Amino acid sequence: MAKQSTFTCTNCGAVHSKWSGRCDECGAWNTITEDSGLSEGAGSASLGQARGKAIALSDLVSDEQPPARTRSGMAELDRVLGGGLVPASAVLVGGDPGIGKSTVLLQAAAAFAGAGLKAVYVSGEEAAAQVRMRAKRLGLEGASVRLAAETNLRDILTTLDKERPDVAIIDSIQTMWLDTVGSAPGSVSQVRAAAHELTRFAKRRGISVVLVGHVTKEGQIAGPRVVEHMVDTVLYFEGERGHQFRILRAVKNRFGPADEIGVFEMTGSGLQEVANPSVLFLSDREQQSAGSVVFAGIEGTRPVLCEFQALVSPAPAGQARRSVVGWDGGRLAMILAVLEARCGIPFAGLDVYLNIAGGLRVTEPAADLAVAAALLSAREDVSLPANTVVFGEISLSGNLRPVGQTETRLKEARKLGFEAAILPEGSKASAETGVRAQKMPDLQALVGDVFGAG
Ligand code: TYD
Ligand code: MG
Repeated sequence: MAKQSTFTCTNCGAVHSKWSGRCDECGAWNTITEDSGLSEGAGSASLGQARGKAIALSDLVSDEQPPARTRSGMAELDRVLGGGLVPASAVLVGGDPGIGKSTVLLQAAAAFAGAGLKAVYVSGEEAAAQVRMRAKRLGLEGASVRLAAETNLRDILTTLDKERPDVAIIDSIQTMWLDTVGSAPGSVSQVRAAAHELTRFAKRRGISVVLVGHVTKEGQIAGPRVVEHMVDTVLYFEGERGHQFRILRAVKNRFGPADEIGVFEMTGSGLQEVANPSVLFLSDREQQSAGSVVFAGIEGTRPVLCEFQALVSPAPAGQARRSVVGWDGGRLAMILAVLEARCGIPFAGLDVYLNIAGGLRVTEPAADLAVAAALLSAREDVSLPANTVVFGEISLSGNLRPVGQTETRLKEARKLGFEAAILPEGSKASAETGVRAQKMPDLQALVGDVFGAG
């Protein structure tokens, strides 16, 4: 068989089948290099005899135990981890610089130490004295966390080998470097090699590693996407600058549900857990106004109420703007198109702004109806009753589709004092929830019954 080479972009890690001057993925020039693949190795012609053995799946499953997890006691962190930290697992925590990754992980290290694990915090960005100052600010100077300020991976592995911790926090993967790799720390090959060495070493020694990764302007972990594939769990730490709320979101989890969120508030003495996010996301709500709609959403396994705000205003000729914060721009365009095509409500010549209060990001299609209601409310200048929540998916025909966990959403709404809900016909809503259900077959019904338009 002919030798098959692959080519990898050193900027974004994308793999190509042939060399070219420009990477299609990230657009960078002169970054594609040839990989020396396995097929070039000395033993490529002869197959390994002893290693390549498969066993029956049923043999494995019979004695499989659920992994023994350790809870940190920080409930919001344990939740996103899927119920606690799994031994010998690898976790990547990504986020913008300054968002609070070092803070939350120092708090986590102290929490795990308090739960009986031996924790080592390796800082490549700050000197030990700086970390100690932060710990003092967090009231954790007495925590039994071991501290190392190192960036050379060889030294770090030696330290870990000597300390034999249960959990090691590496802050950050971009500062770590291997002397066997020629490029500078932070480059794709360094990040990839360091992550690979660390996760492999940790798995062999039964150490859980938590890697901190900075995020680029494009919102990706700086360095290759492959780091995400190397680890068991990927968490993103998100938040809007200027807001004190921070959201730890699981985007991948081999040991638990993805899409779970943990909510924190950044205070003068570190991150505080927010046990009831709905209260928090609705706390800024002013008097009920046109364009404001409360959405009863589900984040992971938990109901979260939040406020969608829309503003619609005349645009200068030919330059209508669509601006979205916290929701998908493509989905907004779809809902505007359905309103126009199925309900005869045009938005041409109008600027449309859509925003989720508090800095939450929602990806559920169940928010479609809340978005449509907010847009209509803003456009018609009619506010919904303040005691009403909205949820449901919109199809391209303008029909409304029931969404999952209707009861959970309604119960959360009731708990927060809401008395009515606008939702799709066919939703399974029992009267027990105490919320009056206004069921609608399609978007036209919402337009006519609620806003008297169309
Ligand atoms: P940090 O954890 O250093 O962010 P990252 O590691 O993601 O770069 O957090 C930095 C910000 O958090 C900084 O702007 C100060 C703020 N902060 C607080 O508001 N309260 C605190 O107790 C701490 C430690 C930091
Ligand atoms: Mg940091």
